[in-house]
Amino acid sequence: MRQSINDIKQKKKRSEKISVITAYDYSTAKICDTSSIDIILVGDSAGMVMLGYDNTIPVTMDDMLVFCKGVVNGSKNALIVGDMPFGSYHINRSLSFSNALKFIKLGCNAVKMEGGCEIAPLIHDLTQKGIPVMGHIGLKPQTSPLWEGYKIQGKTCNSAIDLLNDAIRIEKSGAFSIVLEMVTSEVAEKISKHLSIPTIGIGSGKNCDGQVLVLHDLLGLYNNITPKFVKRYNDSYSLFLSSIRNYIEEIKSSIFPADIHSFSMPDEELGKFEHYINDLNKNAK
Ligand code: KIV
Repeated sequence: MRQSINDIKQKKKRSEKISVITAYDYSTAKICDTSSIDIILVGDSAGMVMLGYDNTIPVTMDDMLVFCKGVVNGSKNALIVGDMPFGSYHINRSLSFSNALKFIKLGCNAVKMEGGCEIAPLIHDLTQKGIPVMGHIGLKPQTSPLWEGYKIQGKTCNSAIDLLNDAIRIEKSGAFSIVLEMVTSEVAEKISKHLSIPTIGIGSGKNCDGQVLVLHDLLGLYNNITPKFVKRYNDSYSLFLSSIRNYIEEIKSSIFPADIHSFSMPDEELGKFEHYINDLNKNAK
């Protein structure tokens, strides 16, 4: 049965850690779902790992909806969160609502949006209208490349206070959980203790209520950059590369396809066909 928003919130009450992973298509969502992951986030990190952009800024609603369709079709158990791309919740309330609604109509169970106090009224509006929202504070990849770059958050007391205030406002606005990205472990721990909704950390230490990683990072499939907080559980890049190289080699040396990969016609039909070709050749002479 699919995890509900309430199931996720209850995990914090039971001190059970929440596992979150990103996915962007049917086949990988199916594997994630089979693994018993709690939440699949269709992150706008798709812009980098699926579309090859340098950051998440160019990602559009149309891009995200295609990725979400695949993930929804590939999963039955995990809660699915669709990431609202940059610009899709910034223009006005009604456009933000209609964009959020597109994710829900498609089968996502919640949406995620980046921002602190400034988007609390919007989160309130969406949750009041029935759309579950996951917040995202700390490093905000949709805007940080435009300002200060990818910097660790919460290194000073003032920045820690700002983060705590953001987290409190997001919780009060009705969000069911909140991502803390690249926040110092000490600040992430204090925020996690202060809030009653679960915090999901990425690069924010072990005391968050849950953890999220980008699928391609943990599989070792995306090797353009590997941030310090990523643990690679495999070297899938090498695995893919060697498999494809073997395939090429076997084509060149006629090892692939073997008989087991091929289809045959009955001997009697083959005899008739060969006879036909012989006649054809004779007549051509
Ligand atoms: O887009 C994404 O994948 C994210 C997570 C890394 C939190 O926002």
